[in-house]
Amino acid sequence: MRIVRSFNDGWLFSPALQDHHTPDSAFERITLPHSNRRFSYYAVDSADYQFVSTYRRHFTLPVLPQDADQKARVFLDFDGVMLVATVSVNGALCGVHQGGFTPFSMDITDHLAAGDNLLTVVVDSTENPCIPPYGGLVDYLTFGGIYRDVRLRIVDPCHIVSLFPRPCQVLTSPRLDCDLHLTAADASAEIELLLQDPQGLVVAWQSCPADAETLTASFDSLPAVALWTLEAPALYTLTARLSHGGILKDEHSVRFGFRHAEFRADGSFALNGHPLKLFGLNRHQTYPYIGAAAPQHLQALDADILKEDLGCNIVRTSHYPQSPHFLNRCDEIGLLVFEELAGWQHIGDEAWKALALQDLQAMIERDRHHPAIILWGVRINESPDDEDFYGQANWLARRLDPTRQTGGVRNFIQSEFLEDVFTLNDFPEGIQQPRIRPHLITEFAGHMFPTKAWDHEERRVAHALHHARKHDLQMGHPDVAGAIGWCAFDYHTHREFGSGDRICYHGVMDIHRLPKMAAYFYRSQKPPESEIVLYAATQWTMGDRSGGGNNPLTVFSNCDEIEVSIGEAFQGRFLPDREHYPHLPHPPFTVRWAEPYNPWGTPFRDLTVRGYWGGELAAEQKIDSVHTPHALRVTASASHLKADGSDMARVAVQIVDRFGNVLPYQMRVVHVTLQGAAELIGEIPLVLRGGQTAFYVKAGGAPGEAAIHIATAELPAVRLTLGIG
Ligand code: GAL
Repeated sequence: MRIVRSFNDGWLFSPALQDHHTPDSAFERITLPHSNRRFSYYAVDSADYQFVSTYRRHFTLPVLPQDADQKARVFLDFDGVMLVATVSVNGALCGVHQGGFTPFSMDITDHLAAGDNLLTVVVDSTENPCIPPYGGLVDYLTFGGIYRDVRLRIVDPCHIVSLFPRPCQVLTSPRLDCDLHLTAADASAEIELLLQDPQGLVVAWQSCPADAETLTASFDSLPAVALWTLEAPALYTLTARLSHGGILKDEHSVRFGFRHAEFRADGSFALNGHPLKLFGLNRHQTYPYIGAAAPQHLQALDADILKEDLGCNIVRTSHYPQSPHFLNRCDEIGLLVFEELAGWQHIGDEAWKALALQDLQAMIERDRHHPAIILWGVRINESPDDEDFYGQANWLARRLDPTRQTGGVRNFIQSEFLEDVFTLNDFPEGIQQPRIRPHLITEFAGHMFPTKAWDHEERRVAHALHHARKHDLQMGHPDVAGAIGWCAFDYHTHREFGSGDRICYHGVMDIHRLPKMAAYFYRSQKPPESEIVLYAATQWTMGDRSGGGNNPLTVFSNCDEIEVSIGEAFQGRFLPDREHYPHLPHPPFTVRWAEPYNPWGTPFRDLTVRGYWGGELAAEQKIDSVHTPHALRVTASASHLKADGSDMARVAVQIVDRFGNVLPYQMRVVHVTLQGAAELIGEIPLVLRGGQTAFYVKAGGAPGEAAIHIATAELPAVRLTLGIG
């Protein structure tokens, strides 16, 4: 018997320390995931989430099946609580967990009463220097609260603790080793293992006695398996059943994939035997208003954006284990992941290091079934060398997961190398030469080029080209397996970093995940077979650049050739700039007019860029020379939300010209109203930045509809309806 129930609803919250005598009326009703505080976009301060709060939930146990073992154990599984959780049931302490990024389980069985039970979780979200990532200055905010999911799990006393499917010899004669951990050995009990293919068909089956607490069973001769690839990420399911005397005692399933991922001694990375240059971005998990408490849809949205809108093949979960929902989506869409333990530059004392190792273990045990993950980051990002600590970290990672290589992100090339892959944050122009292979660049750009979506055009183009240059160099460098830029999305930070408004504008997208110009450089590297990209990196003005004019014009595209016209005047056909970007699959186009196009000498006309692929016209972009705001473009990330009280959609609002180009200097006020079964999250009226912004819609607990009205001066208002149910 295994009963698993979501425990996200029905919580009570108080932003203060309360004991179990405090009446429920002193609490507010909330649903998880939850941030201990809702933030303003404009005034986020790390001091604001650093307090002790109390979460409470009344519950009765579900009725157990008649044949259930009356000694069943009851667990609460927490996916993430920032930063220290003290869990008690009916006033009795069950346990304390330190560390905000890793899951933990509490066995509450011995404290349960018949009928109503009261669960209390006291959450201390202060930046405790004894707990990673804290102790030094940290360039990101962690926020606070029970910010990931919680589940109730009821199992037999004898149950499956973990199941780790380990595909081997994937490219020659596929085998599957299955590591099982049971609560206890019982030679009279039986383990049954079932392998299901992506369609759900059972393709292999076997059984063995449960005669050891940890055991490995192998499927030696498997039928042909579908590989997990970036284009077709086939996912299999392994199910373990534990039974005794013919009675099923426990059942546990894990999703995984058959793939071979290897950083090779020649410097390359290969997926399933095929060399692949890694091309990616770092991701912080935080969002405006809700801190780190983004529910499943927003987690999955980030993975989709990285893969589809940014054309990345890898993401680094800087600088901590991220949501299972994010990683699940990476598995489903074929996006590789470099996952690392929590920290930032600082190493604490022995107790701190023990917590870091405990986090590392929890991360690997939670995530080693994900085919998307290809590398473990076992070193605190940019920390000094520590032979003993990092020796242990590498040993632990290799013991817990012999299938993956380790990396450890450093920012100085002379550092001690204990890992399998030399992972380096490489900010200067050019490529640093550690002369160690394999070598992966794990950060560049970032603070070298903070850029806002509403910056001057030259800055935004230069930002995009800064990313393009580094990727061009890494792609041409035989020792470098790939590069992961800093970073995908702008993020909130401490006062010691960022632009003074507690935001690091290091993203190729803004904090709402809306594109800056650099995002189009990334997207333009996609194979044209998957999407034709054509983006002229200009807002096409007479006088926004220093000195005026538009020379040169940069175009990000994966077309073979482009054609440029101004008004009716044909300017020429142009090829990608292979001279300056010889290694990129799709170099930017640099259009230089021999005679500088003189905006003051001739009337100003619209720009037309046409992209040709395989000799055919494949895309066209026009940019208005009048720049009159034409429409409010409103795009919801989902048309339907679950009525679970926590599902959320992002609604993007942009002001566009008559050809659909965002007008970055339209810093207008936008009024939004919502009626119906959902909550509006955002500061209303909204202010557009860079011609764009977003608000969020959070489902209530009841089915219905959310009718949203979005309006700004002069332009037609937009109505949007989201289904909730
Ligand atoms: C790195 C660091 C990142 C971020 C970045 C900004 O040194 O690892 O977390 O702060 O700088 O460019």
